[in-house]
Amino acid sequence: MEMVKLVLVRHGQSTWNLENRFTGWTDVDLSEQGIREAHEAAAVLARDGYTFDLAFTSVLKRAIRTLWILLDDMDLMWIPVVRSWRLNERHYGALQGLNKKETADRYGLDQVQIWRRSYDTPPGALSADDSRHPSHDRRYADVPRDLLPATESLKTTLERVLPYWHETIVPELEKKRRVLICAHGNSLRALVKYLDGVSDEAITELNIPTGIPLVYELDDDLRAMAHYYLGDEEAIRAATASVASQLTAGPPAG
Ligand code: 3PG
Repeated sequence: MEMVKLVLVRHGQSTWNLENRFTGWTDVDLSEQGIREAHEAAAVLARDGYTFDLAFTSVLKRAIRTLWILLDDMDLMWIPVVRSWRLNERHYGALQGLNKKETADRYGLDQVQIWRRSYDTPPGALSADDSRHPSHDRRYADVPRDLLPATESLKTTLERVLPYWHETIVPELEKKRRVLICAHGNSLRALVKYLDGVSDEAITELNIPTGIPLVYELDDDLRAMAHYYLGDEEAIRAATASVASQLTAGPPAG
């Protein structure tokens, strides 16, 4: 049996992570800390001997720039990179732009936690004439209109990530290509739910920190045998806890 390693990286801290705002499909850039996190992720990957044959990312610049930094630092700028809207962050609907803690103070922690982490309850949808609706953004011009979300739950996020996984990423893994996926907190939670068979209940407790490589060891049938983060355990625990506490804590340290 030849094991395949797949590496997932959530983009580094974005400016809206720093401001503690619901982001979704809003195309914000990395913060200074996010840029540092991407360089650190590259250093850890290089230290541990990782290299890649191709990379996948979303059409959002915080993930694209994280990938650029990783590839540049690892001297891999030449490998193929494929971008897809299907790897975008979960669309956060009407919550996009709002401060997470203020939203919890206003609507109650329980309600906002349901919007944020329940498996299948999406936040309120954007109306079609809202400028934040993806139909107004030309990067999605080729996406069939009925596939463009006005809000998403983790379930509907998984439903648009999975076809991409099966049709585009799996064939590469089957050829034993070393694949890097640089994406987002919730598009990666969706993928992790699928890879590890996490229950609808248990996935509510799972948080993915920014800028820390998450390695999946897959068997010949691409079943997940093991997974682990690369880096300092204590730092990873703290970064994960800080994602979990965004509804009650202030913005993360910059
Ligand atoms: C966002 O879109 O706000 C973040 O990237 C992910 O947010 P969450 O951890 O609150 O789901």
